[in-house]
Amino acid sequence: MKNQVIELLLDRRSVRDFTNQPIDDESLKLIIECGMYAPNAKNKQNWHFSVITNRDVIEEINRITLAGMDRLGIKREADYHIFYHAPAVIILSSMIEGFSEMNCGCAVENMSIAAKSLGIDSCIVGQTRFMYHQSNPIDINRLVKIPEGYEHDVAICFGYRNGPNPEPKPRKEGIVDYIK
Ligand SMILES: Cc1cc2nc3c(=O)[nH]c(=O)nc-3n(C[C@H](O)[C@H](O)[C@H](O)COP(=O)(O)O)c2cc1C
Repeated sequence: MKNQVIELLLDRRSVRDFTNQPIDDESLKLIIECGMYAPNAKNKQNWHFSVITNRDVIEEINRITLAGMDRLGIKREADYHIFYHAPAVIILSSMIEGFSEMNCGCAVENMSIAAKSLGIDSCIVGQTRFMYHQSNPIDINRLVKIPEGYEHDVAICFGYRNGPNPEPKPRKEGIVDYIK
């Protein structure tokens, strides 16, 4: 019964170790297109994709986020990098209204699977929200081009994996009930 899509879904892992090989524009475009084709409530498509391949900007987001985490007392390794030095990052933001966070969740998952199908790994990163505990939201939104009236939801970083695909994490038992 397993087909390629199912195999891909079961083989996807959050990857946290990347080479510095950049992702070509064509692959990135396809990944974004798959994000844009994600299901979204009432088909409002009121989300925004900030696609960041500029190393300096990625480093700046990392720096601000780590400072926000430190301010909140969140423990981390000294050399922790929120994007694991990945060469490409997409920050999803959306208009603040019903289901916007869920819509962005659908989009990041679509992009993660699309990337995987192209041999590109990824990690969804929610920690970027800590940026807002360090810097002025207006400055951050300007840095990552989040449009006015939109709010940061989640980020995802992409890159080529350094080493083997991580082992799957065991899934919890007893979380399914069938009502037949
Ligand atoms: C909304 C969301 C936020 C996440 N934020 C982070 C994060 O900030 N940093 C990180 O390393 N992984 C993050 N992850 C990845 C999860 O840790 C990961 O999906 C989970 O441990 C299961 O592992 P797997 O994706 O390899 O199956 C996030 C995942 C989701 C869905």
